[in-house]
This record gives sequence, C-alpha cells and structure tokens, in this order.
Amino acid sequence: MLVNTLLVADRGDEPHLKDHLRLITEPPPPLPDAATCRVAVIGLGYVGLPLVLGFAKASRAIGLDISKSKIEELRRGIDFTGEVNGEELRVADADFTTDTYALREADVVIVCVPTPVNSHNRPDYGPLLAASRTIGQHLKRGCVVVFESTVDPGTTEERCLPVIEQVSGLKEGVDFYLGYSPERINPGDPTRKLADIKKIVAGSTPAVTDFLEGLYSRVVNAGLFKATSIRVAEAAKILENTQRDVNIALMNQMMALFDKMGIRSTDVIAAAGSKWNFHHYRPGLVGGHCIAVDPYFLVDAGRRHGLAMELVAAARAVNEQTPHYLVEKLEEQFGARRNGLQGARILVLGRSFKEDCPDTRNSKCFPMMDAMWNRGAEVFNFDPVAFDDHFEGGRGTKIIDDPFAHGPYDAVIVTLTHTVFRHQFDAATLVSLAGKHAPLIDMRGSFDSPEVRDWFRYWRP
Ligand SMILES: NC(=O)c1ccc[n+]([C@@H]2O[C@H](COP(=O)([O-])OP(=O)(O)OC[C@H]3O[C@@H](n4cnc5c(N)ncnc54)[C@H](O)[C@@H]3O)[C@@H](O)[C@H]2O)c1
Repeated sequence: MLVNTLLVADRGDEPHLKDHLRLITEPPPPLPDAATCRVAVIGLGYVGLPLVLGFAKASRAIGLDISKSKIEELRRGIDFTGEVNGEELRVADADFTTDTYALREADVVIVCVPTPVNSHNRPDYGPLLAASRTIGQHLKRGCVVVFESTVDPGTTEERCLPVIEQVSGLKEGVDFYLGYSPERINPGDPTRKLADIKKIVAGSTPAVTDFLEGLYSRVVNAGLFKATSIRVAEAAKILENTQRDVNIALMNQMMALFDKMGIRSTDVIAAAGSKWNFHHYRPGLVGGHCIAVDPYFLVDAGRRHGLAMELVAAARAVNEQTPHYLVEKLEEQFGARRNGLQGARILVLGRSFKEDCPDTRNSKCFPMMDAMWNRGAEVFNFDPVAFDDHFEGGRGTKIIDDPFAHGPYDAVIVTLTHTVFRHQFDAATLVSLAGKHAPLIDMRGSFDSPEVRDWFRYWRP
C-alpha cells in the first residue's frame, strides 16, 4: 500500500499527490457511529421534515432550511405539508434553524432540497449546488454527506461533490464520505410513511454503504437495499418515476382514442386487468414536482449522451396535453347548447396535484383552468385540502371556500377525489350545485352511479 502510494506520488500526479501523502501521515477519519451519530437535514419539505424527526429519536438532530417563515412555523409546531403532526414537531429533539453554522455539529448531513426544471423544462441544479456550497463552508472531517434529492445519474459525484471539495478544501474518501439514498415517500398516503418504505442506500465505498444501511435502519422498518453504486441508486429512483409517467401517458393516450370510438377506457382497463400480467395504471393529470419533472432530467441527460429519449419525451408531451383534452371534452359535453365556454360558470373540484395531498406545485389543474378562462369561462375552484405555498397559475380562477355560496354553475369538473369530497358530495349535492343535465366531468369516476349518469351529461375516462 505504502509502495503503491509512493509510486503514484512519484508520477507527479499533482491533485492526488497531496491526498496520498495525507493518507500516510493522517489516516482517513473513522465513519461515525451509525446508531447515535448526529444528523443534520438540509431542506425541510415533504422529504426532509419526516426524515429529521425520524433521526431526532436517537440523538438531537438539526433541521436547516433557507426559508425563515418555514423555520418559524416548525418552531411553533406547524407543518403545512401535513406529513407530520404538531405534537410530533413539538416533542421532537431537533433544532430547526436557518443558521448554516449549525452544520458544524453534524456527523451526517443529508440533502433534501428541490430539484426543479426551469421554464424550458431543463434541470435546475441551483438548489443542490447552493446546498453543496453551504456544506462545503461548514464541513468537518469524518462527516458523511448524503444526497436524497431526485437527480439524473452522475449528479451527486460530478456536480455536487466537486463544489463541496472546492469550497471545503477537503477530499472525499480522505477527509469525508459521500452517499446517495433516494427518497420514495408518497405524500398524502397515511399507509406508506417513511418507515414503511424500503430504502435504497449507496456509498462511495462498500464501507460507506454499510454505514448508510446502519444509519437508515434508525428510521426505516421496511428494510434497506444496498445499491452497487451511487449512480445506480440515482438511476433507480429516476427510473421509478419515469416508468410511472410513461405508463400514465399510455393510459391518457388510449383514453383519448377509446373515447373517440365510444369506448370507456375504465371498462377497457377492467377487462384487460383480468390478465395476470397487465399493469394497472389509470388516466389522469400528472402534476407535482416529481413524476411530472424527473423525466425531463433524463431527457436532458440523453441529450448530453447523444440520445433523443423519444419515448420519455413523448410521454411528457402527452401528459402535458391532458389538461387541454379535458377542456375540449367539456366543450364537447356542452355541445350545440352554448357558444363554447364563453360566459360559462365552471366549478372545478380539486386543485392540488394529487389526492389528499395539499401540494399544488405544478398541478395540472392550473393550465386546465387557464385554458377555460382563456376561452371566456368564469372558473371557480374549490379545494379544502390544497395549500398554495407557491401559487402558480389559474390567473382568472376564483378560489372559493364554499362552492354552495357561488352557484349555480353550468358545469362541474372533478379533477381528483380527496377523501373529503367523497363525504361532501353525492348525486343530490352535485345537482344542487349545477342543476340537471349540466356537464359533469369526473376524472376519477368517483361519482359514477345510475343517478349521476341519468341526471348529468356525465363523462368519465
Ligand atoms: N415530495 C415528494 O413526494 C418526493 C418524493 C421523493 C423524492 N422527492 C425529491 O426530494 C427532493 C425534495 O422534495 P420536497 O418535496 O421535499 O421539496 P420541498 O420543496 O417540499 O422542500 C424543499 C425545502 O428545501 C428548502 N431549500 C431549498 N434550497 C435550500 C438550500 N439551499 N438550503 C436549505 N434549504 C433549502 C426549501 O425552502 C424547502 O423547504 C426533490 O428532489 C424531490 O424530487 C420528493
């Protein structure tokens, strides 16, 4: 080992020479104790908040966010994501802070910042690189840095690591360690929380992967999967989300074709699903900042590698078109009875991007409502679950708290069915809102019944 090291040093391999000599004089620090080490989480959103609370159970944890208002809310026991409850927050042994110096206390730093796309659907690595700079400024020797944000393969090692090393002046494998563990939580789903979902871990070396297995077993009961490399772990997560996007796009495209043929796609899926190897996907609006965003990272990666990624790109295009398909469907339901949507009062039930989840970011309700407004409709939106942390659209839409106070409407569109909608609405209440024979577009088919089919110009996929 020593001979090899000196041979490498002799070659005058400048960047490595210093590191090799350091390895002789100063061996790499040991990995922290996975069971008790102090964890800091950067980015306290849907992913980071449950994680920091999980780690706070074994030793005092640090939760860092750039948003002052978020930190103040968390200190007051308020979590607008609804992923953790106020009591959990109040009793958590965690410091919520915007002060980056807090990272100096951490044995492990886990990054859970957003990975959005820009207005041209190109990856925006800005938050990741900003977090990497912050880590570099406060990194201590022996620390393990883990990225959880969803990225295209290579991002952790080729984009984030160089920033950390440059800013800190420390070297991965010599002074600190690197890992990746994609998050797979399913916001709005109380049956599959962080602890219930098997988690993938990968370190820069097998020893780091073993450490991550021990570390995450503190918060995950469903088991860990050790990926063979950081890139494999990165690729696995983005593949999961892209697979979902492509399959939903197929269902959305089939929905449009079957509809023209007078066939209900739900009936087709039920029939096809009687075969054991049919995959169950439904048509729907694909929004949010995971499934509707991550495939663009692969399209961009394909571009860099000379691949067009036609299937992935086409699936994105189909799913982006689906809100407009619903608007055309509504116009079709009105038929010759009126001049398109001009002057029509439309009630849209649902604004968040998925059932029982408050997140409205990149919700496809917004382009749908914009398109109706552009065609002259008066659009009303009711969603008691939605929390508009970043209001993104629906320019002409009136956000209302009580749909009964603003009716009657000429048509109703149910984009998704929160549990509360099932309790609040039925055939009779819907008729009281829009009257008999009004168009009712029910994207999830939740209100399908003989009465509803009889009373409304009803359409479901
Ligand atoms: N939400 C999900 O369902 C989900 C599931 C799996 C993976 N992911 C991935 O996890 C990552 C985080 O997603 P999320 O939904 O938790 O995002 P989020 O927007 O809910 O939370 C991110 C937090 O990071 C903070 N932040 C941004 N830049 C920062 C910086 N430089 N330093 C400190 N804090 C910073 C923001 O203020 C915000 O509070 C993304 O890559 C996402 O694709 C999300």
